[in-house]
Amino acid sequence: MTRGDRVQLGAGVDWGLLIGADARYRNTFLEVFDSLTPQNEMKMDALQPQRARYEFAIADQLVAFAVAHGKQVRGHTTVWHKQLPTWLTRRSWARAELTAILKDHVQTVIGRYRGRISEWDVVNEPIAEDGTLRPTIWRGTLGHGYVADALCWAHEADPGARLYINDYNTELAGPKADRLYALAQELVAREVPLHGVGFQMHVSTASYPREAGLVANMRRFSDLGLGVDVTELDVRTSGTPGSAEERLAAQREVYRTVAAACRALERCDRLTTWGITDAHSWLGPAELPLPFDGSYEPKPAFAVLRETLALR
Ligand code: G3I
Repeated sequence: MTRGDRVQLGAGVDWGLLIGADARYRNTFLEVFDSLTPQNEMKMDALQPQRARYEFAIADQLVAFAVAHGKQVRGHTTVWHKQLPTWLTRRSWARAELTAILKDHVQTVIGRYRGRISEWDVVNEPIAEDGTLRPTIWRGTLGHGYVADALCWAHEADPGARLYINDYNTELAGPKADRLYALAQELVAREVPLHGVGFQMHVSTASYPREAGLVANMRRFSDLGLGVDVTELDVRTSGTPGSAEERLAAQREVYRTVAAACRALERCDRLTTWGITDAHSWLGPAELPLPFDGSYEPKPAFAVLRETLALR
């Protein structure tokens, strides 16, 4: 799949805020963004709080909301090492048992939204900083093959969904990105159903990738035939000295850089920011990391996204 004439803009959202009393959150989302990624509502602790007892009430409402408003959903996420239910983490499991648990989770969740969620972060953050496969409950008990298995199970559950591996600190070539690339290359060569790689991009004004390096790194993934979306962009500003205006100008340049890289890559279909407003970010309000300020006014970061991604 290649994009049309513009890159789509997505937002990582919080369901409580989306339907909450402050209509500015909902209205800004509806006016500006093409898609949503639930920040927490589809993680394993939320969807399977008790073994084999799934809780879909909130996720169902969220998907219905998106469909009703013509917005797409990025499913996030079926296989991760965080936000796991305690029934899973408080004991150890035999390999066959854990395989059955993971297969059931992936297939129940992805199967439920078959045809309604077009894109999934099937596996989240599988690579460690040193370039090894991260030692998690999944890798520890199931071995290296868990990534391929999860993708195959997901594909069986919804053959139409685009399946992603999503990770952070993979913007530039280096031990972590290189290992992710080797994994992607291996999966593609084995014809495992992997369709894209998500680059989270939790970056800061003090430390961010320059455009050429970013494009070069993302391009090698897209040259494998994979999508290369930006999935969780936010830009911390506390590391930049100076006035608020100077910090926001520095931030604008980081947003421009990431958006320009995405725009330059034919297979970068969507750029998602991890939140909407500085009033509600996982980083706290002091970092001012998002495109809208605490009063829902567009910041320089939003103007540059609009311009660089050629939004309507
Ligand atoms: O919902 C409870 C609330 O009931 C309780 O009162 C409150 C007290 O701490 O906690 C609330 O849960 C928090 C939840 O966010 C919802 O706000 C959790 O403590 C908190 O840990 C959780 O943080 C989330 C984080 O993942 C956890 O790993 C962030 O919202 C979420 O944005 C963040 O997202 C991750 C991506 O999934 C993967 N990539 C990195 C990204 C940023 O960390």
